[in-house]
Amino acid sequence: MTTWRADLLSDTLTRPTPAMRQAMAHAEVGDDVFGEDPTVRALEERVAGLLGHEAGLFTPTGSMANQLGLRLHVRPGEELVCDSLAHVVRAELGAAAVFSGISSRTWTAPRGLLDPADPIALLQNGVGPYQVCTALVVVENTHNFGGGTVQPIEAIRAVRAATQPRGVAMHLDGARLWNAHIASGVALAEYAAHVDTVSVCLSKGLGAPVGSVLLGSADAMAQARIWRKRYGGGMRQVGILAAAGLHALDHHVDRLADDHARARRAAEAFAEAAPGCIDPATVQTNIVMLSTAATGWTPADLVAAASAQGVRGYAAGPALVRLVWHLDVDDEATAYAIDVLTALLRERPGPQL
Ligand SMILES: Cc1ncc(COP(=O)(O)O)c(C=O)c1O
Repeated sequence: MTTWRADLLSDTLTRPTPAMRQAMAHAEVGDDVFGEDPTVRALEERVAGLLGHEAGLFTPTGSMANQLGLRLHVRPGEELVCDSLAHVVRAELGAAAVFSGISSRTWTAPRGLLDPADPIALLQNGVGPYQVCTALVVVENTHNFGGGTVQPIEAIRAVRAATQPRGVAMHLDGARLWNAHIASGVALAEYAAHVDTVSVCLSKGLGAPVGSVLLGSADAMAQARIWRKRYGGGMRQVGILAAAGLHALDHHVDRLADDHARARRAAEAFAEAAPGCIDPATVQTNIVMLSTAATGWTPADLVAAASAQGVRGYAAGPALVRLVWHLDVDDEATAYAIDVLTALLRERPGPQL
């Protein structure tokens, strides 16, 4: 296995800290399928409280939390709408269609940034027997493939104002809602107040090894609990994992600001080395989406050249390299990644003619 000097592939890579392992080792547990794991219950209640929803449901993955949320709102043959880069349509392997018979329509959003006019223009419900009925709008915050974009709270409010009177539900994919909260100062509960269900991940920037929580009404979570079991996601003495989540909530939320500052520092250096490859002002959180268009590099070649020097990134598209900061990338690793990548970017400073 390669030892990376700066592993910027994803914020899912973090390993539990010694203190987190201690918390896991000492967790009180019970059988969670019977609702008897006290640590899982504590986690669900804590996250529900933080987000201002009635109840929570612990799931093994963010994808499962999202998919449970989607199926609560959309009947087979109905549709959800979301932006074309959203994780639910791009990276969950068609699960909404496969498991729930949901069709999807998308709008285009540069950087994944929500413009309320886009979902509103797509809504079609109560349109009779010819057109697919829109049952759900999905918003992702922060936006992963958009480059860690924080969604403006006013935009979320505006979508809610248009959808609620029409009986169209909203689900928030808040895998990185913690990052949005730290970057914007908007309360978690304020983001979550405008949606029917929200999923949050503990295993990304927060550094837990496993786990997400779905939040919503008590009735909705009771339904989701049944479907979680049907999907094979009923877990037993899983307080061991929930303890990691509780530890992360205690110790790893405020420190996300460090990841954001390091990502911004790197983006500033990249912009200086290769003007046009990134606008540092767009780096709001822990993700840097580098455009290789004007650099002469293909994403695959740039990623390979950086890898050879111990810096790992992800070729995220025809002209995009994604770099993600997290708990296991400190100032020293950031400085090293900046040195390596700025040197490579300078090596081929313009398009090859
Ligand atoms: C925005 C977003 N939602 C959901 C997920 C799914 O999480 P998991 O990998 O735990 O299924 C991810 C994972 O990267 C994500 O970035």
